[in-house]
Amino acid sequence: MRRSDDGLDNGPPLLPLSILETVWPFFSERHSFIAQGFQFAGSIFRFKLLRDTVIVVSGERARTEFLTSKYLDINEGFKVLSGAIPMLPGVTSNLNTGVITLIHKRLSNAQSSERLENLIPYILSDIDRAVTTWSSDLIDPFAAIPTLCFQTSVRCLACHELADDASLVGRLRVLYDKLDTSTTPASVLLPWLPSPSMVTKLRASKKVYDIIDGAIRARLDSGISRDDTLQMLIDSGDDKLIIVGFIMGLLVAGARSTGTTASWLVTFLAEDIERRQKARDEIHALLSLHAYVIDNAKESVAELLSAIPLEAWEKGTPVLDKLIRETLRIAQPHAAMRRNMGPDIYVDGTCVPSGSYIVYPFSDVHLNSQLYVDPWRFDPDRAQVEGKYSYVGWGGGTTVCLGQRLAKLEMKLILAILLLRSDFTLVDRNGNCPTSAPRPNWNDHLHCKPTKACFVRFDEHKNC
Ligand code: HEM
Repeated sequence: MRRSDDGLDNGPPLLPLSILETVWPFFSERHSFIAQGFQFAGSIFRFKLLRDTVIVVSGERARTEFLTSKYLDINEGFKVLSGAIPMLPGVTSNLNTGVITLIHKRLSNAQSSERLENLIPYILSDIDRAVTTWSSDLIDPFAAIPTLCFQTSVRCLACHELADDASLVGRLRVLYDKLDTSTTPASVLLPWLPSPSMVTKLRASKKVYDIIDGAIRARLDSGISRDDTLQMLIDSGDDKLIIVGFIMGLLVAGARSTGTTASWLVTFLAEDIERRQKARDEIHALLSLHAYVIDNAKESVAELLSAIPLEAWEKGTPVLDKLIRETLRIAQPHAAMRRNMGPDIYVDGTCVPSGSYIVYPFSDVHLNSQLYVDPWRFDPDRAQVEGKYSYVGWGGGTTVCLGQRLAKLEMKLILAILLLRSDFTLVDRNGNCPTSAPRPNWNDHLHCKPTKACFVRFDEHKNC
């Protein structure tokens, strides 16, 4: 074991690795790196990330204490350990608690029942339009579905003018992709160093800023009020930097997680005809309850589905709910990250010094074979398991996802359109039945793409 220079000689085991052996794997192969750490040290270990100490914990007690501690701060944790957000200090990063609280309040307003109800026809028509532009009946779900979710996220979190302009949405998406690819260990850990990746990241952030700033100015100059999130933010009287920060920051948080989850949802459905039929039956049942006055022959799928009210999407879809829940368990390679902003605290009996970082990988609970038998098997009908915080798909304790209402709605509307438009199946790149089912790659912590590409084939002629 190496001697530590963090004064934690009685703390959790320190991985006997050099900086080079920790930094790169932590950012590029996090799941394997953490699994190896547990293999080496047992249920808790620590490592150095340049000058910072990072403690990685596991087990029910550690999970509970991690999730419920009032001293562990998610924003400070993400700043140093993740960094996959646009870099504009005071707009999207280095925000004080008051600004973060205000942004969270506005996010809640953006998801009021009235707002979501009004958004349903827009989201459906965005999805319908995007699907009709797919140039082939063979799509890569891990490219096409995130693109679709980016469009619906712009619609729901920004404004109609941006969402209606396909080329601007495309530019924004390219810029956000650049932000992801330029998030390297150097840009995260040494943000003051003008490395090429940092410069790319700053440039991309500035361009995103300009696009959103332009949309705000155009709205204000037009004097026309529209019913969308931007208008809600303007009408709240918020400072322009708050409005830009809200849109820039939440677009990345929202679109990426929703895109990843929706890609896997479609993939898991494409694998199994009975699964698809069950989900489709549920949507047909909603249609027969709510869309009976509409002349089916004349309406598009999107128009038909618009007749289903928000409440039915939220409370009347147990099959879709189970599909989403199981997808989050198996295909969300999240490691929760925090910084201890309070005094020294104890997690599972181990000291987490003030100022240090702590990580809880969701694999510890979601891929735990003692809690979930055969954990890699996708089984939406699994019984819920006993134990504290034994499911954290939307977070738990002091930090739960504040965008889940919107995310769930978007994903259900995507599934509904795809299921009703045509049938679809999982194939390999040559259009043949794949030899093995794709598996979520937890080392790809942003996108969770499978290591072997898979495709979904839509059967144009089959009317569902
Ligand atoms: C399928 C899509 C999504 C999934 C699976 C997801 C999952 C999560 C999880 C697990 C957390 C807790 C993280 C932790 O404890 O480290 C979280 C937090 C959060 N999510 Fe989501 N999320 C999704 C979509 C969204 C969307 C669409 C938005 C906003 C529009 C959003 C906004 C947030 C925010 C603001 C937090 C931080 C809450 C806080 O600091 O207290 N999420 N999300």
